[in-house]
Amino acid sequence: MKKINIKNDQLQIYKRENSNLWQLKIKLPKKKAIRISSGTKILIEAKKIGIQKYNHLLNNEIKKIQIDKTYFYKKIHLIESENLNKKEIECFLDTSNKYIEFNKKRIKKSNILEGRTVFNLFFEDSTRTRTSFEVAAKRLGADLINVAVKDSSINKGETLLDTMTTINSMSPDVIILRHPEEGISKKISKIVKSSVINAGDGSHEHPTQALLDALTIRKKFKKFKGLKIAICGDILHSRVARSNIEILSTLGASINIIGPKSLIPLDLKRKKLNIYYNMKKGLKNCDIVMMLRIQKERIVGTHILNEKEYFNQYGLDYKKLSYAKKNAFVMHPGPMNRGVEIETNLADDISRSLIQEQVTMGVAIRMACLEILVNNRDKYGS
Ligand code: NCD
Repeated sequence: MKKINIKNDQLQIYKRENSNLWQLKIKLPKKKAIRISSGTKILIEAKKIGIQKYNHLLNNEIKKIQIDKTYFYKKIHLIESENLNKKEIECFLDTSNKYIEFNKKRIKKSNILEGRTVFNLFFEDSTRTRTSFEVAAKRLGADLINVAVKDSSINKGETLLDTMTTINSMSPDVIILRHPEEGISKKISKIVKSSVINAGDGSHEHPTQALLDALTIRKKFKKFKGLKIAICGDILHSRVARSNIEILSTLGASINIIGPKSLIPLDLKRKKLNIYYNMKKGLKNCDIVMMLRIQKERIVGTHILNEKEYFNQYGLDYKKLSYAKKNAFVMHPGPMNRGVEIETNLADDISRSLIQEQVTMGVAIRMACLEILVNNRDKYGS
């Protein structure tokens, strides 16, 4: 029997002994093979017909795996927490629920993002956030490309705009961007065709971190109304604090901000927040104590105490935690400066610390974000 394989063996053209017409066999991944006659004796024609049929079937398959849902969140980017309303935040949290269960399965593989391309573009150091997005994208079946920025043309003087234009020409579906410049994700979202997720822009915002923190809190307390949450430490340089203040207060929690005067931004005074410069006063009646890393890389000038002094006044240990509610929980977005903002034993005490749970929730929330944004882009266009 004469046989020709094309399209990585997904399309076969062959002739049976007793027939002079070419036959087609099309076998798409995870699908039953289809066998049909090409209706022609001429090989070139049979090839043309085969490729047409193959493309048609493949397109139908791709259409079928489009998610096509209507979510309360309708945008194609996720840039800031500031403008998210309660229903939109809940849309991300609710969509994550199924992934919390999914991520406990032995085989963690879905195909809803099969054929989609996601770029991780991190211009600042990151372990947690970058790998969390990578795990999320891969579990949904997407192809994820980690751009090694340290080895990229940025070092040869290429501007960020050039880099983004280059990546845009490769037709990505989602770009996940971390960069030291505030507001950069918004700018980039206006020039690329893909969805953009802000994974941290300078000291400005880090919406997926705040969403995963909210998911962790909701899982533990089942509500936000009536909860008192302390956010402590280097608020001035913390995009995590900024995003959490927006999201947790929109969800109905009351927020205490605690830190040294020099690390609390003045613009916070305009918001409905309680500001304290002392842990004992600020932690009173709190259900959750969220500690922040001292962002040494962003601190310029001398508005910081030495580490020992800082730990004495603002570092969380069991004694300071006892100022909060009896069963209060500790959170930290990581990476931690152990012994500076948090005592090491407390950080590892799983009866009080939700830090590992935050990482677990991070994957679920990022799977939800990818699902929603890709769906929205299919549905509403770029
Ligand atoms: C935070 C970040 O990068 O903004 N970490 C994180 O995303 N897990 C907080 C920090 O760097 O201190």
